[in-house]
Amino acid sequence: MSPAQRVGSNEAEYQKGVKRLYENGIQHVPGKYILPENDRPNEKSRSPRLNLKLPEIDCAQLNGPNRDRVLASLAYACENYGFFQLTNHGIPEEIINNMSDVSKRFFELPFADREKYMSSDMRSPVRYGTSFNQINDEVFCWRDFLKLVCDPQPDVLSHWPCAPIDFKEPGVAYAKATKLLFLSLVRAILESLGIRNRDDDGILEELENGSQILVINCYPPCPEPELTVGMLPHSDYGFLTLLLQDEIRGLQIHHRDQWVTVEPVPGSLVVNVGDHLEIFSNGRYKSVLHRVLVNSNSYRISLASLHSLSFNRKVQPSSILISQSNPRRYEGTDFSSFLEFVESSDGTKKNFIESRKIQ
Ligand code: OGA
Ligand code: NI
Repeated sequence: MSPAQRVGSNEAEYQKGVKRLYENGIQHVPGKYILPENDRPNEKSRSPRLNLKLPEIDCAQLNGPNRDRVLASLAYACENYGFFQLTNHGIPEEIINNMSDVSKRFFELPFADREKYMSSDMRSPVRYGTSFNQINDEVFCWRDFLKLVCDPQPDVLSHWPCAPIDFKEPGVAYAKATKLLFLSLVRAILESLGIRNRDDDGILEELENGSQILVINCYPPCPEPELTVGMLPHSDYGFLTLLLQDEIRGLQIHHRDQWVTVEPVPGSLVVNVGDHLEIFSNGRYKSVLHRVLVNSNSYRISLASLHSLSFNRKVQPSSILISQSNPRRYEGTDFSSFLEFVESSDGTKKNFIESRKIQ
């Protein structure tokens, strides 16, 4: 098929997402989704030879007699990978299974039911959408998503989907469990940075009262997966992201100058350092670029839980980590400035955190 034939004038159709295109039996990737050749995942990066087993952090061991050793591994992973696989995380299987199940069923709803949650307002407590930023993106990504703001719970919950009818309960249970896990991980991360409770600049308390966003990502099978991606290279804006991926490969991280595919480990969570933790650690822990590949056979669903300070609070490099020999490397930033940045640019790559660096 020639590029001209692929362009079409179906802009309004593309705004309705890729799940719908897939359901309509699309045979070729429309021009709207075809990346310029240089941005496409090359043959080499799609090769299974480049699969990577992330460093594993055993959460049960973190809370046992080997804590110090696990803290050292945690520091190593955050400095050198920006990612780790969290095993024995303690979230009951039932909570995870119920959440995965209801997430799948949300995307199986007729489009008319999903459409109700579409919104162009980035600050909306619930937002169904497609690509990354469907208002600005010139080329679209092969991804639909449902974004749920998790707090303050009494205010946001009434906006969450009422379909499937049992959506909210597993959503709330999952959000609560991941928030608790996040807080226990942050305590360990502060300790691994050499920051003790009483001189943590109040960050732990701010994070306890901080923000959480759940993103359910849906990547339907794609007829020509080599022409597009599920998500372009980006880093996550928050402090930490806890990602539940299913057994289908797709997540790639930029590691030692190449793209490598993260091997799924059943029963674990992928955790990554976000821009805010890179800033707080004054650059010691790295918010690493990652992207998602799609494939022609399998449906892939992932659940990302993004945690940070409240939307109006500024994150700054920790005063404890700044000294004459290690001067401050970043300007402070908050969520609003991130949103402004996303709304005014393509929001991908590491442009945002680059813009916070002190030259
Ligand atoms: C994200 C993300 C990865 C995935 O939601 O920010 O990077 O595997 N998701 O879906
Ligand atoms: Ni991400």
